[in-house]
Amino acid sequence: MSQPGWTEPGMGNQIACPPPVPPSAKARHAGQLRVKDSEGCHTMPAHPRHGHVSYEYLPMPQVGDQMVVDMCTSYFDAEAPAYDDLDSSVERRRDYLGAIDGYVVRRLSALGQCRSVLSFGSGTGRREQRITTMMSDHGPTIVGVERSPNMAAISARRGIQTISSLEAAGSPEANSMDAVLCLYSFIHLPSPASRRGTLSKLVDALRPGGLLILDVFNLHDTSEWTSKLADGGRGNRPDLVGERRGDVLYRRTDRTANLSYMHYFTIGEISSLLEDTGLVITDLIGVGHGAEPGRIGVPLDKGCLLLACTKPQHQASVNASLGQTTG
Ligand SMILES: C[S@@+](CC[C@H](N)C(=O)[O-])C[C@H]1O[C@@H](n2cnc3c(N)ncnc32)[C@H](O)[C@@H]1O
Repeated sequence: MSQPGWTEPGMGNQIACPPPVPPSAKARHAGQLRVKDSEGCHTMPAHPRHGHVSYEYLPMPQVGDQMVVDMCTSYFDAEAPAYDDLDSSVERRRDYLGAIDGYVVRRLSALGQCRSVLSFGSGTGRREQRITTMMSDHGPTIVGVERSPNMAAISARRGIQTISSLEAAGSPEANSMDAVLCLYSFIHLPSPASRRGTLSKLVDALRPGGLLILDVFNLHDTSEWTSKLADGGRGNRPDLVGERRGDVLYRRTDRTANLSYMHYFTIGEISSLLEDTGLVITDLIGVGHGAEPGRIGVPLDKGCLLLACTKPQHQASVNASLGQTTG
């Protein structure tokens, strides 16, 4: 009987890797990775490849948020010099990011007023530069939030200025931003508490009536490797890659030994998170990533999740959306 295959997370390629089996010399020779966690040794697909890029996935250790944040910063510092090259070496990624940028341009252009935008996890700033260019004369000023000094330095050379955190000097004032973007970045926040905390600061910076757009990887995207994590009953074990379902630790095998972290969301998880901050979700869209890359409007179990939300104009609306009564 044939076993379900795994495809690589974040890349969703067509390569079917073997599912976990008890470790054995044969399995290791078949290209599997032997990993050890608190419950012993397991095997996972080793070195899934996409174009010229290959990754391997490891069990998520139980470490504090700060350690995960620092780990991601080191990872992106090392990735920075060649980060933009991924657009040309990983075609489906370029198509996916390009489609999202097009959507962002359409939504920002339709805002009555869009002069200032905050972009969380803005990386090298190439997408922010592209978005402002595509909006031509109406392009807003985009300020990035970027923890990796090497990413931030590349961004600054492009003319996209960044701050290192939402607490740093120069952070936006409350209710000052017309829009907030989290493009391919929210997934790196290490825990439910850190996601809630960051989101509430981002919403605070957004003006009433302003727009927040974010995209996240989807735990139930059947074209992604991690959809197997959603259902332990299919013979794969969530604890292989993390205590919390959807957590993944990964590293590139071809260039750097640094580790990074990302989280795959369920629709309920990301929706509640956004609504709990008082945002009103206006769009929940599937965008092809592993399959049909860049197609906007794929079924919600066939792509990443793109969400747009507005900050209500009045506190009464916030309270109403939170189900609270005013006294
Ligand atoms: C996958 S990259 C995406 C970069 C860019 N948005 C893009 O799409 O090309 C994620 C970025 O988020 C940044 N990042 C991750 N966690 C962060 C945090 N807590 N604060 C600020 N930046 C963060 C990383 O340093 C990295 O540059």
